[in-house]
This record gives sequence, structure tokens and C-alpha cells, in this order.
Amino acid sequence: MAWPGLDLAGRCALVTGASSGIGLACSEALTGLGADVLMVARDAGRLQAQAERVQEAGTRLGWHAADLSMPDGRTELVARMEQTGRELEVLVHCAGLFEPAAIEDVTLESFRRQLEVNVVAPFALTQSLVSLMPEGSSIVFISSAVVHYGVSQASAYSATKGAVEAMVRALAVELAPRRIRVNAVAPGLVRTPMIAGWLAGGNEPQLAGNTLVGRLGEAQDIASVVCLLSSPMSGYIDGETIVADGGVSVP
Ligand SMILES: NC(=O)c1ccc[n+]([C@@H]2O[C@H](COP(=O)([O-])OP(=O)(O)OC[C@H]3O[C@@H](n4cnc5c(N)ncnc54)[C@H](OP(=O)(O)O)[C@@H]3O)[C@@H](O)[C@H]2O)c1
Repeated sequence: MAWPGLDLAGRCALVTGASSGIGLACSEALTGLGADVLMVARDAGRLQAQAERVQEAGTRLGWHAADLSMPDGRTELVARMEQTGRELEVLVHCAGLFEPAAIEDVTLESFRRQLEVNVVAPFALTQSLVSLMPEGSSIVFISSAVVHYGVSQASAYSATKGAVEAMVRALAVELAPRRIRVNAVAPGLVRTPMIAGWLAGGNEPQLAGNTLVGRLGEAQDIASVVCLLSSPMSGYIDGETIVADGGVSVP
């Protein structure tokens, strides 16, 4: 059997949440492996600045600003993707929202906001974009390790990520006849703007001590798993969620 390698040259990828943290690292890594990446996030200024920096490394599809919690934003993104005239081989859903709150304080509005960005948006985008995906394509969702162990003040967020993992298994089965693989990565604590508030209290040494590897995750730690799942190198992994949490869940 030929060794496929991690080469994504000429493949088209769409990454949401691409202006920051894990999505940005995924965009950089996929571009580095030769993929043409369309980078998507809400804040056009921040996204454009990051896309222009990443594009110097070879991205040709550029960026598209859209609020993925809004149906119009999703429709315009799908139209933009269709305008490229390209097939879509890699779809990476990184855009996410985490609004921590105690159970008495979390509002249903907050729950619905997180549901919309974390579940409805990737569901609707997958639904609209899958017709552009040829055999051999890969869809990667970002879940969270909170699905695999309880975390205080994260009940609403955990519910959305649990839904993501259930959706991944169902989609993997449904899309298998079309030879499209669907997987997820469930990161532990990764040093991005999303968790800056959690780290502000000086509890990083204790949180790092909970891992087996002795440190918090970096966005690149997750991007490398996404790249593996995006490439034929992981061709025998389907319907899975890979936990990348530095070993927190082991002991
Ligand atoms: N960091 C962690 O410890 C951790 C752990 C487990 C799972 N995760 C998951 O990993 C994913 C990436 O998180 P991150 O840590 O990289 O967060 P981040 O640095 O805050 O980045 C979030 C990205 O999502 C975009 N975004 C948010 N709402 C959006 C919307 N309505 N429409 C379009 N784009 C939107 C943001 O850009 P704009 O604000 O410009 O839209 C940004 O590019 C999320 O799904 C998160 O739940 C993170």
C-alpha cells in the first residue's frame, strides 16, 4: 500500500473560527500542508489581518466574514464557497462559543447562543456544503473534553458539545456510502482567548498539574490532530472523537 503522507496539496479546505486560537492554528497548519484554505469568522478586520499573514504562506482562497449564528451569514458563506468553483475536500468546524455560568445563573438566551454557534451552525453548514464534497473528503468538528468528564459552570456548553459528538457518529454512518469521513477532536484546556478568563486567576500551574504532560494545550496541539483527521493518513478513523487533553482523563 502506498504511504499517503500528510500532503494536502491542491485540496480545498474551509475552516470556521479561523481568526483566533484553534481555528487559526488549523488554517496555518492546513496551509502549510498545501491546502487552499477559505478562512471564516465574524470580525472582518481581525480575520483579514490573520488571513493576509497566513496567505503569504500560500493560501489562495482568502477569507470570508460571516456571523455563523445567523442563517443569512451561513447562506452567504455557502454562496462564496460555491463561487470558488472548487470541490471542498476538508471542512473544519472550529467556531465556538463558551459562556461559563453556574446553573442558577445561566440564562436560556445564553444556552441558545451557545447552541446556535456550537451545534446549529456546523450542522447547517455541513448540510449545505456536503454536496460540494467528493469521495475521500473529511469533516472535522471540535468538541471538548468537558463531554468526557464533568466541569462546573459548563452545563450548557457541555450539552452543546455532547450534541456535537452524537452528530459526528450519525453523520459518519450516513456519509460513509459517499466515502466522506466525519470525526471530532475533544480538546482539554488550550491556551486561547476563549479561556483567558479561566487562566486570569493564576490557577494555570494547578490546571497544568492535572495533565500527564505537565502543561496546558496550545492551539497547535489540536491543529495537528485536525490535520491528521483531514488527511488520508487517518483513512481508517471514522465516526470517532479523539480526546487531546494532555492525559487529564487518564488517571
Ligand atoms: N480553548 C479551549 O480550551 C477549548 C477547549 C475545548 C474545546 N474548544 C473549542 O475549540 C473551538 C475553538 O475555540 P478557541 O479556543 O480557538 O476559541 P477562540 O480563540 O475564542 O476562537 C473562536 C473563533 O470562533 C469565531 N466565532 C465565534 N463566534 C462566531 C460566529 N457566531 N460566527 C463566526 N465565527 C465565530 C471567532 O471569531 P469572531 O469572534 O471574529 O467571530 C474566533 O475565530 C471552539 O469550538 C471551542 O468550543 C476550546
